[in-house]
Amino acid sequence: MADDYLGRKMEEYMSRPAKQHRSNASLARLLAKNRSHRGYDASFKVRADQLRRIIEVNTLTPSACNRQPLRFRPVLADEAHKVLPHIRLGGALPDLHLPQKGCEPNAFIIICSTVPEDHYVDIDLGISAQSMLLQAVEMGLNGICIGAFDHARIREEFALPYEPCLLLAIGRGTEVIRTIEIGAEDDHTYFRKDGVHYVPKVRTDELIIK
Ligand SMILES: Cc1cc2nc3c(=O)[nH]c(=O)nc-3n(C[C@H](O)[C@H](O)[C@H](O)COP(=O)(O)O)c2cc1C
Repeated sequence: MADDYLGRKMEEYMSRPAKQHRSNASLARLLAKNRSHRGYDASFKVRADQLRRIIEVNTLTPSACNRQPLRFRPVLADEAHKVLPHIRLGGALPDLHLPQKGCEPNAFIIICSTVPEDHYVDIDLGISAQSMLLQAVEMGLNGICIGAFDHARIREEFALPYEPCLLLAIGRGTEVIRTIEIGAEDDHTYFRKDGVHYVPKVRTDELIIK
């Protein structure tokens, strides 16, 4: 027990439960909504200005040595047919052949690197992808990271000057997705039951190294 005034105040502050500030609450909502969608409303066409706004978050993201090696190729509905045959969605649910016919995404962002991919480029890539997906969710859209794609074919289809590292699909997601809490040793595989896509997430207590 501290016997000085400041010490007592500090003890009191440290023992208080964390307040749910408005900004935290809204970040929590965005994070919760930011689930990976593998089915989209085909009648909704993402616009060029929407992809531009999503790409714009990269003017505010951190980058190792501030190198900023990433470049972004927006793809709208008129070019989506050049991407769709070269991606694989839902590798853990091969029988479903996702995306289902008529539910394919019609917009993408191809993330490229101007330098050979290395540890720091990959960290930049993760920050960039998650920031763009959160921006999409804030705009009422959804998305998914796609690492399983034919790099050579995508580079060729779009005559890209740089190596593509990751794709984002963007659109209006139609799936019902819920997260479920699991232990670190439990099965991490996502699954579907009664029309709901379940994503197991390791609980906080088991994320923290004690
Ligand atoms: C780097 C990265 C690559 C991914 N690649 C694919 C992919 O090729 N195909 C796919 O269906 N999902 C892909 N995903 C989505 C993951 O499967 C998804 O994040 C995971 O199942 C957890 O679901 P959640 O994003 O809703 O939390 C990828 C995710 C990340 C972060």
